[in-house]
Amino acid sequence: MTETGTPRFPRLLVTGGAGFIGSCFVRDVLARKDGTNITVIDKLTYAGNRANLAPVDADPEQSARLRFVAGDIADQTVVARFAAEADAVVNFAAESHVDRSILDPEAFLRTDVLGVHILLEACRTEQERARVGARAAAPRFLQVSTDEVYGSVETGESREDDRLEPRSPYSSAKAGGELLARSYFVTYGLDVVITRGSNTYGPYHHPEKLIPLFVTNAIDDQQLPLYGDGLQRRDWLYVADHAGAIGHVLDHGVSGETYNVAGNNERTNREIVTALLEHLGKPWSLVRQVADRPGHDRRYAMDSSRLAALGWTNTMPFAQGLAATVDWYIQNQDWWRGIKSGEWKDYYQRQYGARLAGSREAR
Ligand code: NAD
Ligand code: TYD
Repeated sequence: MTETGTPRFPRLLVTGGAGFIGSCFVRDVLARKDGTNITVIDKLTYAGNRANLAPVDADPEQSARLRFVAGDIADQTVVARFAAEADAVVNFAAESHVDRSILDPEAFLRTDVLGVHILLEACRTEQERARVGARAAAPRFLQVSTDEVYGSVETGESREDDRLEPRSPYSSAKAGGELLARSYFVTYGLDVVITRGSNTYGPYHHPEKLIPLFVTNAIDDQQLPLYGDGLQRRDWLYVADHAGAIGHVLDHGVSGETYNVAGNNERTNREIVTALLEHLGKPWSLVRQVADRPGHDRRYAMDSSRLAALGWTNTMPFAQGLAATVDWYIQNQDWWRGIKSGEWKDYYQRQYGARLAGSREAR
């Protein structure tokens, strides 16, 4: 947004806008009612859900400013058409789950690397059109990346210029995508900014991830599969803070820069599970210690003073965000029960069948 209250980028192309963080970004930007128009391109994979944008559909003023395209970011014909009408591209689209990347890495390369390449090429075409006067300026490109590209950080906090040492197929593909984005800034002078966010939590989070999996299983008194000793540490960031930070970097980030988006809420997985069970009034006896994730990163932690210097601070206190999240899953059971059917059952069996069969009581 500019100082006059008009958006800096009135026409946004948001990819992956039916997923967890992308849909929050779309809902929050449209709810500002500042005239921004958004085109979402989303492939609606198992993780994408058109219903995540239902609050927009419920408001005629907002829904008039949303165009939804079911499409693949790796499909050049789809991407080119909509990039031509965009002032900025915000790329949330990704295969995003580490465990699935271990079971089946290929889809991660296709979307998280090749898909980014196709988007960047479309922006480069627009840059050329701007050069010959066919449009005012090339689109800005924001790549949504992750703290996981730093790899496991035993002590201290990662800074943006630290070496990238990704250790899973997911984080390696994400590193490839963001390095490619950076190369388009360096090589072609494309206007690129990159964010690296912490583990995000909140409403509309797919139940494959730790917090929603454990909350929804616990509601049904099902076992909670805790990997290894459960002492791995993550830094937790509320989804609206993550989406807000991305919007802030889009508007104010320096071209070519990368910004860490930390939550500043470091917890062990055991601490998270204890807090969830307490809020739900469910017993620890549901927790099972299961075989660890191969190559499991022990800890992520980031320094986000660069983003603070750009003028962004998170607003959601962790205890409040976690309570609101658990309550959302209690109140929106249709949403997750629909997802925990069909393909889900095969995935659950593949990921947890043998693990739970060989599990033991988690002390
Ligand atoms: P998500 O899995 O909930 O959503 C991903 C969305 O992308 C889905 O709607 C899916 O349908 C869509 N998609 C997948 N492949 C596509 C393709 N080829 N073309 C078009 N759409 C496609 O993921 P999320 O948790 O919302 O994450 C969004 C972004 O943020 C990702 O890039 C992820 O790497 C990054 N990120 C996530 C976290 C986190 O904790 N969730 C933390 C840091 C960064
Ligand atoms: P996850 O939500 O998959 O996020 P990420 O791996 O991207 O950090 O997992 C968060 C932490 O919880 C991670 O240390 C793995 C652990 N975990 C479990 O112990 N059991 C589970 O069933 C899942 C999904 C995750």
